[in-house]
Amino acid sequence: MCILIADGVAWAPTGEGTELSPVVFGAAASRPCTLVVCRGCCCGSASKYPDVDHQWQLDRLQAAAAESGGRLAVRTTDCLGPCDQANVLVVQPSGEGRRRGGRATWVGWSGDDDCTDDVLTWAAAGGPGMAQPPATLTLQFIRPPRPEVRRARR
Ligand code: FES
Repeated sequence: MCILIADGVAWAPTGEGTELSPVVFGAAASRPCTLVVCRGCCCGSASKYPDVDHQWQLDRLQAAAAESGGRLAVRTTDCLGPCDQANVLVVQPSGEGRRRGGRATWVGWSGDDDCTDDVLTWAAAGGPGMAQPPATLTLQFIRPPRPEVRRARR
């Protein structure tokens, strides 16, 4: 028996008995930890947040990805929804991290140097499912908006 739940992750029996464990398959199995950086109407906006060097942050994240040997990826996206918590980014687990139970983690107010340091430290250690996040970063974890709110913002 195998029950697909989402995005390359299924729950399947892994031994005797009825206990199920997550199994990552296909392209998702080799997916790197990925930082999804919001650059919508508010995140990345110099007019709304003039004290934040948005391009510097993105350059720094992309440089870390380039130096990671494929273990870290960065991509940008349009508005994710919680603009009042800008800049928002999402730390997505690697394939292995997802298999170990890691899930996408939303980070708010991520524009400052300390938060960028913490995100990169966590990602370098493997990200969700692979390593504990820095304690200071956990204070910036935010709840993802409901799907209908995200759709309405696009
Ligand atoms: S612009 Fe980033 S959450 Fe809306």
